[in-house]
Amino acid sequence: MRKALLSLSLLMSGPAAVVAGTAGYPLPDTPAVEQQVNHLLGELSLQQKVDLLGGVDGFCTRAMPTIGLPRLCMSDGPVGVRMHGPSNAYAAGMALAASWDPSLAREVGTSIGKDARARGISFVLGPAVNIYRAPLDGRNMEYYGEDPLLAGSIAVGMIKGIQSQGVVATIKHFVANNSEYDRRHLDSLVDERTLHEIYLRAFEMAVKQGHVGAVMSSYNRVNGDYTAESRYLIHDVLDRGWGFKGLFMSDWGAVHDGIKAFKAGLDLEMPAADQMTPAKILQGLQDGTLSQTQLDSKVRRLLRTAVRFGLMDRPRQDYAEPLLGPAANQVALRSALESAVLLKNAHHTLPFDAARMKTIAVIGPMAYPGAASAGGSSHIDTFHTVSILEGISQLVGSKVKVLYSPGLPTPDQVFKRPAFVTGDGKPGLLRQTFDNPDFAGLPAASTVDATVDHWKPELWTTPATLRKSIRWSGRFVPGKSGKYLFLTAAASQDSYTLYVNGKAEIVQPMREGQAPHAVTLSLVAGKPVQLRLDYKPDVAYSRMGFGVIAVDDLIAPAARKMAAMADAAVVAVGYGPAAESEAFDRSFELPWGQAALIRAVARANPHTVVTVTSGGGYATRGWLDDVPALLQNWYPGQQGGTAIADILFGRHSPEGKLPFSFQRAWKDNPVHDFYYAHAAPDGHPVVRYGEGVLLGYRWYTSHPDKPQPVFPFGFGLSYTQFRFSHLKVSGPSTDGSVEVAFDVANTGHRAGAEVAQVYVGDPSAQVARPARELKGFRKLRLAPGESRHVNIVLDRRAFAYYDVCRHGWRVDPGKFVVYVGDASDSTPLQADITMGAQP
Ligand code: BGC
Repeated sequence: MRKALLSLSLLMSGPAAVVAGTAGYPLPDTPAVEQQVNHLLGELSLQQKVDLLGGVDGFCTRAMPTIGLPRLCMSDGPVGVRMHGPSNAYAAGMALAASWDPSLAREVGTSIGKDARARGISFVLGPAVNIYRAPLDGRNMEYYGEDPLLAGSIAVGMIKGIQSQGVVATIKHFVANNSEYDRRHLDSLVDERTLHEIYLRAFEMAVKQGHVGAVMSSYNRVNGDYTAESRYLIHDVLDRGWGFKGLFMSDWGAVHDGIKAFKAGLDLEMPAADQMTPAKILQGLQDGTLSQTQLDSKVRRLLRTAVRFGLMDRPRQDYAEPLLGPAANQVALRSALESAVLLKNAHHTLPFDAARMKTIAVIGPMAYPGAASAGGSSHIDTFHTVSILEGISQLVGSKVKVLYSPGLPTPDQVFKRPAFVTGDGKPGLLRQTFDNPDFAGLPAASTVDATVDHWKPELWTTPATLRKSIRWSGRFVPGKSGKYLFLTAAASQDSYTLYVNGKAEIVQPMREGQAPHAVTLSLVAGKPVQLRLDYKPDVAYSRMGFGVIAVDDLIAPAARKMAAMADAAVVAVGYGPAAESEAFDRSFELPWGQAALIRAVARANPHTVVTVTSGGGYATRGWLDDVPALLQNWYPGQQGGTAIADILFGRHSPEGKLPFSFQRAWKDNPVHDFYYAHAAPDGHPVVRYGEGVLLGYRWYTSHPDKPQPVFPFGFGLSYTQFRFSHLKVSGPSTDGSVEVAFDVANTGHRAGAEVAQVYVGDPSAQVARPARELKGFRKLRLAPGESRHVNIVLDRRAFAYYDVCRHGWRVDPGKFVVYVGDASDSTPLQADITMGAQP
């Protein structure tokens, strides 16, 4: 799949007109709207209708000038408006979920909506609500965590914000796209109850509560059908079940069978009608296999969207909206401030007191430059990103000396170190290039490369028509005995295998994308190892990077020295766009060298704080016990460094809470044995969601005897303390709702925010249910000493499970337990309530 970016001039070519306001959009779907839609539909010829089923120019719908329908353009999504030059990056999806604050999501959505209008964009391709099943999913940072209620609530806020600007939000990826390692081929086998309770719920909220304008399919299949072709998902669930009347579009290149997609309910194939081609559809209509009513319904949905969002009444581009401005910067800052999660803070290491500090060491690959967003279609090129180094330097000013070292070499620096010797003793590796993809016959060219340093972290490039293969061979002679890191990196759909002494140590199969790989091997001084690197580029040039370095030499001596000189050290580590991205999965271990760097700095300075840039959990074994404090900063957007500095130095008390269960070891995750695909009898890869509804904290709280997460769902520390008291659960009232009332007090000495979390357990259910499920939450800002009375109403659905016999929601009468607290495993308040039979 290739994505062409359309040029700004193309977008701007529409008729210039006065910008009308966006207040009041989207219009409610009234009879007047339907009348206008029907009128427009009636003006279209059959050919015109069929032509509207596919996109144009990579990211737009087709214009129909005869009815005044302009070309409507789209942009990713979901952490900012990705296209058409630099833009604003807000804290990414997982960060917004960690804020547990739908009003923040709404504010970010409003700002994204404005950014979209400023760039002539009518559809934002976000938010994205695929559930966090595993820390390895390369796209977790775009999503909202493991709980459907939390994900749905954040999504509703985001949608309302975007759509308040007259811009259509597009919820994605519908559905069960919970890994990236082979997303275009996987078939997610999910039982009906799990699908509804866990994976569909956030989409349902987006439709019913957020009134989202558009839905995007995923790439994968669900229970056998590609989601853009699943009549069950599109027609039965989305349209008939939830009453969705907006536009259902495919993900880019996700349609395999245009006729099946047409019948299932796909309205718009993106980026173009490659499968739902006009010729096929016209033929089907002619021979009666396809219905005109269904064609009309699809076109109506596009027209309805255009009418309801006022897209035919005003120019798409709003020149009065600034491309970059203080307002967006403020929103970006707030999103980062409210989402960072303080996971550990022994001995009150944080907040730092700048007045009592002379020197601080800022170390690590994520200290500079700042990683506002991760990789893939959510990546934003910002005007400027405040890095952690800059944030800290700006905050402390001239009072505190800020020492900086990246701590580790960059991949390029490793690749550029001359390390190899050819078979006949020349420095470098012998490169043999074959004019075929399989190293067959004699090489067409041979030369010696001093280093293999061509790495370019590209994604979605055009494959070469003439495929080559390249083999590097030679030796590495270790200068000293010990551990050595072998680092490799290529890009996009390149594949390669690194053999060390004849053994395949690193294998990168042909996939949509890839992260760098590393393996550590113990070598003996002077004893050469034989190397062979077989590389199959997907493009006409080499993107291969390969280097070897002694693990002892990885950590910059400056890092240790600076840490020892300073009053405190901040080690900024994490993944970044090349290692965590759409189109490939990432490792559970932190990238190469980072754990060792943390240990080295912590040995040099006991006041070492670790900050991590990631979209999900990672291995903490081997370093967490060595450091007193850990701050999870996600992908924090363009103001990340400012926010992180504000938190480290106590200008803002941390308030984020984990939106997923953070495992000690990947194998402790109930999904572990079900994550990777196996082959179905016909050979296609299937992933069986064998953990069912017992995902994340639903599993941990149901199995207290099993290894528990190092940091549980809902957990996050503050610089102040809170107390929960006076729980009163009343009801159910005649409509089946239950009122949960309690008090939360800030018992500490500074202002802070707490997230009150309400969980429900159903011990008398006739089916096995999780021990507790999140059913309500409220974020509270409290001054020191302040107490707030909180009232949360749970509707009857909060007590229900999905009953596969009646294909609907069911409450088993009997006792339920309501738990209230500050994390999934920390609920000081608890009360029983009895629910009656179905009202
Ligand atoms: C992604 C979508 C994205 C689309 C357009 C696809 O590869 O999965 O999330 O919106 O490309 O960029």
